[in-house]
Amino acid sequence: MNKIIKSINTVCCIGAGYVGGPTMAVIAKHCKNIKVTVLDINQDKINAWNSENLDDLPVYEPGLKEIVRETRGKNLFFSTDIAGSLEKADMVFISVNTPTKSKGLGAGYASDLKWVEASARTVSEFAKGHTIVVEKSTVPVRTAELIKEILILSCDKKDDKKTFSVLSSPEFLAEGSAIKDLESPDRVLIGGDNQKAIHKLSEIYQKWIPKNKILHTNLWSSELSKLTANAFLAQRVTSINAIAALCEPTGAKIKEVSNAIGYDSRIGEKFLEASPGFGGSCFKKDILNLVYLCRYYGLEEIAKYWEQVSIVNEWQKLRIASLIVDKLYGTVSLKNILILGFSFKANTNDTRESASISISRYLIDNGAKLLIHDPQVNEKQIANDLKENSSKIDCSSEGGWSYINNIYKSAKGVDAIVVLTEWDLYKTLEWEKLFELMRKPAWVFDTRSVVNSENLEKIGFRVWKLGQ
Ligand code: UDX
Ligand code: ADP
Repeated sequence: MNKIIKSINTVCCIGAGYVGGPTMAVIAKHCKNIKVTVLDINQDKINAWNSENLDDLPVYEPGLKEIVRETRGKNLFFSTDIAGSLEKADMVFISVNTPTKSKGLGAGYASDLKWVEASARTVSEFAKGHTIVVEKSTVPVRTAELIKEILILSCDKKDDKKTFSVLSSPEFLAEGSAIKDLESPDRVLIGGDNQKAIHKLSEIYQKWIPKNKILHTNLWSSELSKLTANAFLAQRVTSINAIAALCEPTGAKIKEVSNAIGYDSRIGEKFLEASPGFGGSCFKKDILNLVYLCRYYGLEEIAKYWEQVSIVNEWQKLRIASLIVDKLYGTVSLKNILILGFSFKANTNDTRESASISISRYLIDNGAKLLIHDPQVNEKQIANDLKENSSKIDCSSEGGWSYINNIYKSAKGVDAIVVLTEWDLYKTLEWEKLFELMRKPAWVFDTRSVVNSENLEKIGFRVWKLGQ
C-alpha cells in the first residue's frame, strides 16, 4: 500500500444518522480549513439535513442546530452525490447503521454488516489517490479487517495511485448529550497500524481535544474497547434495575441505595439511575455482539454471563408492564392510560429499543387505550414502532393508541399516567389539575424518578415509583 499521506483537506462521512451527522458537524466547526461532506443514500434524510428550518433536522440534539447554522454551506455539506464526493475525499468515515441480524447466520446476536460492506465497496470504487478510511459505526471485532480486505482486493494492483489505510475510531457519544460528548470527550480512540494515517486523524481531533485524551491502540483493541465500554455501562443499568426490584418488597429506596454506593469512588455516581430498561441503538446490540463473539471462541460461560444482562433488561420492561395491569385491578381493558415519553431517554428523538415500545405494546395487547405524548418523537415514528396505524380511540374497541400534543387536554377520564422517559417537562406538571381531570382511583406510575410521590399522594394519587 502506498503510504504517502497528504494533508487532509476534504473529509466525507458515509451515513448521515445520529452518529455521522453530529460528529461531522463538530469536526466542521473546529476544522474550518477542511471541507466536510456528509453522505447518505436516503434523499429525504439529506433534504432534512439541508432544510432551511433548523427545527426540521433529522436528528434532535441540544446544541446541534446552532453548529449546523454556523457551518452548513461554508465547510459542512450534506449530499447524496456519493461518487462525486468520494473522488475528492482524503479521509472517509464510515458511519452507517449496523443492526442486529434478524435472519441467517448469527441471527439475533451478530451485527448485520451489509451496509458497512456496501460502503467499503463504494469507497473502493470511487476513491482516488490515497484515502484514509475510518470505521466509526459500532461494529463487531475484526470488522476493520473486512473493510481492509475489500479495499485491498478491489484495488488495481498496477494502479499505485489508488491506495488505502484503515483506522478504527469508535464513537463514544451518548444521544441527548452528543454535542457535549463530542466537544469534550473523556477520550477518543484511534486504532490502527499506519502511523502516518493515525497522525493525520489525530491532528484533526487535536484541533479541540487535548493530546493526552487521544489514545492509540491496535485495530482490535479499539473495536473491542467500544463493545466493552457499552457492555459495562449496560451492565451497570441492569445491576441497579435488579436492586430496584429488590428494594420494592423490602422497603429500601433505590435512590438512597444508589446515592450510598455512588459515594464509593471505586463505584462512582454515574449510570446508577433505575429505569424501565436501557434502550438505544448500542447497548443491546453490543451486548449481543459480545455474546456472539464469546460463543464463537468457545467461551460459553462468559457468553451466558453477558447474555444475562440483556435477559434481565427485557424482564424489567415486562415486569413493569404487567405490574401496571395488576395495580389497575388486574385489567386495563378499555382503560385510558396516558404514556409520558416515547424516546429511549430524554433529549433525543430516537426511539430505537425504547422501553416505551414494549411497555406500550403490552398494554395495548391487554386492551388499554393509550394516549402517547413525547416532546420530540412524532406520530409517524410511534406508528412505525408499534407497527399499527394511529387509531382514533373508539369507546367500544379494545386496545389502541393515539398521539397527543396537549397532556392536560387529554387527561380527562384517564385512569393512569405512566412516566417512561425523564423529559424535564414531566418534572413540572400541574398535578392538581391532572388529578381533577382523571378517573378515580387516579394512578401515577413513575419509572424514571421524576415525580415527588409524597406530594402526589397528598393530592390523592395512588403512586407506584420504581425501586421504592
Ligand atoms: C450509549 C453509550 O453511553 C455511548 O458511549 C455509546 O457511544 C452509545 O451507547 P446512548 O445509548 O446514546 O449511548 O445513551 P446512554 O446515555 O448510554 O443511555 C442508554 C440507555 O440506558 C437509555 O435508555 C438510558 O435511559 C439508560 N440509562 C442510562 C439508565 O437506565 N440508567 C442510567 O443511569 C443511565
Ligand atoms: P447511527 O445511530 O449509527 O448513526 P442511523 O441509522 O441513525 O445510525 O444512521 C445510519 C445512516 O446510514 C442512515 O441514514 C442510512 O441511510 C445510511 N446508510 C446506510 N447504508 C448506506 C450506504 N451504503 N451508503 C450511504 N448511506 C448509507
